[in-house]
Amino acid sequence: MAALTLGQALEREHREIDGGIESFLDELDSGVRVDPSQLVTALESLRRHIYLEEVFLFPDLKAAGLMGPIFVMLREHGMLWRQLDAVTGMLAQTSETEVLRHSCATLLALLSDHNAKEEPIIYTQADDILGAVASAELRKFLIQGTMPEGWVCSSA
Ligand SMILES: [Fe+2]
Ligand SMILES: [Fe+2]
Repeated sequence: MAALTLGQALEREHREIDGGIESFLDELDSGVRVDPSQLVTALESLRRHIYLEEVFLFPDLKAAGLMGPIFVMLREHGMLWRQLDAVTGMLAQTSETEVLRHSCATLLALLSDHNAKEEPIIYTQADDILGAVASAELRKFLIQGTMPEGWVCSSA
């Protein structure tokens, strides 16, 4: 099987993150005792995903002329980040299923809106603009990279 391009690998990570949040919501709906670990994993993956984009991907795309779209992406990352914080805080504080469900659904809606722009506008150009070496480095990061402790996105 051919290796995924960086754009394809990032899209796959979108699906995995969405899937983690959706399965958590399914568990909430089924009424069984809920294990929050898959939600926590999805939230951590989303933070690292935003880190990768802002630190390693967006600067080169901005330099290549995609200033407007990147500006929009950064603003939306800020909204996602605040919602991530809200969900994380709720997980720690409340056992109120409805509150948690609503908060996760809001995060999913923000993600859907963001990814629907990012995938066609940003990811389709990522491999061309970055070049093979940088793309390969980022694909490696997707497998094993970590976000520095305490990092927050630029529009948080
Ligand atoms: Fe993004
Ligand atoms: Fe993304």
